[in-house]
Amino acid sequence: MADHLKEQAAAAALEAVQDGMRLGLGTGSTAAWFVHLLGDRVRAGLNVVGVPTSEATRRQAVDEGIELTSLDEIDALDLTVDGADEIGPGLALIKGGGGALLREKIVAAASARMIVIADASKQVDELGAFHLPIEVVHFGRKATERAVSELAAGLGLTGPLRWRMAGGEFFATDEGHLILDASFGRIPDPQALADGLAHIPGVVEHGLFLGLADEALIATHEGVKRLSGEPSRA
Ligand code: A5P
Repeated sequence: MADHLKEQAAAAALEAVQDGMRLGLGTGSTAAWFVHLLGDRVRAGLNVVGVPTSEATRRQAVDEGIELTSLDEIDALDLTVDGADEIGPGLALIKGGGGALLREKIVAAASARMIVIADASKQVDELGAFHLPIEVVHFGRKATERAVSELAAGLGLTGPLRWRMAGGEFFATDEGHLILDASFGRIPDPQALADGLAHIPGVVEHGLFLGLADEALIATHEGVKRLSGEPSRA
């Protein structure tokens, strides 16, 4: 996505930020624009605290002078602003392209409201063209891979499962886990897949964010489009 569209989506989300808010700070290049613009507002006197969803975002927020806290110090967040890899019907999301899905989901679930920022290329009629990241513990990883494969087959999902690599080694998440990227092509029933993955012991979390996003701000060359979701959480 062109940088100016990422900036536009981020700027639109900034309008929802009010003085005194406790904010979840997302991960990825679009969320980085939000953190950057938030830094400008903080330097101009805005008073907020943030919980970063990754070490990368933590470093950026510190550089921007944004005060940080953690979910151990506060019990809830007012708003989380984050990017997405795909935005499907009902604001069902695939996230985790950057590997931060676990912390992103914990932060989103602790937020009263979640705004997703993206460009129009991220909006899809059906999830699954983007690989689904699945965060897995090291122990028994092959058994976990087999269980994911069997679950997928049972749901009629086909496509390769690949361990994410970085520099010739297994990619490690901020929590030290592995990522199994599932290239299903299409996921007609995201809820069934999410339910099945939740029952596989070696799976820590997955990149299907269902019922978490309240609103998506999608930047197009014609302006920023607002989509509303139907979050299931309070
Ligand atoms: C990070 O793990 C992801 O969930 C990101 O939010 C997602 O990959 C979007 O990143 P971009 O804004 O860079 O496309």
